[in-house]
Amino acid sequence: MAVTEPSWAPSSWRGLPAAQQPDWPDDAALADVRERLRALPPLVFAGEARSLLDSLAEVTEGRAFLLQAGDCVESFRDHTAPAIREKLKVLLQMSAVLTFGATLPVVKVGRIAGQFAKPRTSATEVVDGVELPSFRGHTVHSDEPTPEARVADPERMIQAYYQGASTLNLLRAFTKGGFADLTQVHNWNREFVAASPAGRRYEILADEIERALRFMEAVGIDLANMPTLHEVNVWTSHEGLLLDYEEPLTRVDSLTGRWYDCSAHMLWIGDRTRDLDGAHVGFLAGVNNPIGVKIGPTATSADVLALCERLNPDRIPGRLTLITRLGAGNVHELLPPLLRAVAEAEHPVVWACDPMHANLVRTATGVKTRHFDAIMAEIEGFFVAHRDVGTWPGGVHIEFTGEDVTECLGGAEAVLEEQLDQRYLTLCDPRLNARQSLDLAFRVAELMRSI
Ligand code: PEP
Ligand code: CO
Repeated sequence: MAVTEPSWAPSSWRGLPAAQQPDWPDDAALADVRERLRALPPLVFAGEARSLLDSLAEVTEGRAFLLQAGDCVESFRDHTAPAIREKLKVLLQMSAVLTFGATLPVVKVGRIAGQFAKPRTSATEVVDGVELPSFRGHTVHSDEPTPEARVADPERMIQAYYQGASTLNLLRAFTKGGFADLTQVHNWNREFVAASPAGRRYEILADEIERALRFMEAVGIDLANMPTLHEVNVWTSHEGLLLDYEEPLTRVDSLTGRWYDCSAHMLWIGDRTRDLDGAHVGFLAGVNNPIGVKIGPTATSADVLALCERLNPDRIPGRLTLITRLGAGNVHELLPPLLRAVAEAEHPVVWACDPMHANLVRTATGVKTRHFDAIMAEIEGFFVAHRDVGTWPGGVHIEFTGEDVTECLGGAEAVLEEQLDQRYLTLCDPRLNARQSLDLAFRVAELMRSI
């Protein structure tokens, strides 16, 4: 079934109010970049987006779990093989923990290979006493704190395309070429993780997985010929924010004749751009990829139902993921009515919990951070709300990095407030480091078993 409305075209959004778009200074340069993007090959194949849709349909039925994770915003500077590999390792580790703990397939979706643009609450920010246009991601401008550097440059969208392409290429190579083979389960544990409590717990789990594999071999199962043990799917996703980038990468699929946004397998709409009559909803309503919408604390049940109707009128399972980010203090009160409303309307959705974006705090010295306990409290509230209403807690959506950063507070090997400035590297929101991410996965697996 197609979701495309009959009168929809990739450029239809231009007639609608488009929030959070950069102030491109030169229309001719922008038009030229759009034309060049339109002529470049798609980054993903529509058939892959359909495979992801099928996997997400399993999540709507409660037969699988979604792990969507990656950077808040990817950097043009940090475009190296180790950076990509370390992120993939953490994703594979988390997914092994969740799969083993919950005995369910985990659908792995990275915030990767295209997550280059940021919505901002305020148009300007003050850096070292100077007021500048807020940083909107490397696909728009540099993060250098000067007025010249913050001028939007459309050429950067071409660079984003090529960085997305080479990141995706390496991801495919790693995930299909042996790196993600389940027999490598020990090798995904890095030294600075392995020495932590979560890392030691992971070693025990990896031993158990190895024993299970040896057991299967011993009873005569031919593991060498089981592709699912040797290859995994890691899908790509980003916020479909910059419509001048998404539009030219939206193509008609040659097999089905339908529109797909071929910049990533899955796109999501941010909490700031989920206006029902706005350009982002109008744009993503017409593409056939699986899509997500962030649901913040101001969303009412009526808002959520209207989004379901508009974005998934044919009620295709797997098409729509609702990513709630309500805050640890709000989730108990705000989530159950939303769950009931969507269940009563019989909309098949994936419910995912983003425990990051409504739990941002500033330290006394003004550093943006998140506390691991608040993150876990929102996830726990999410599981409790689903248990009470009788719906399936379908997944988590988090911001992490494979590096040993000190951006979020707490975790089993606690990052303390006075340590935040040791390795605070993010370009935007604070991310969980590799240890905290693994710790989170163990705790989510426990919640899945106990609730
Ligand atoms: C994000 O996911 O980085 C983000 C900006 O989220 P939200 O739209 O939920 O604020
Ligand atoms: Co963020």
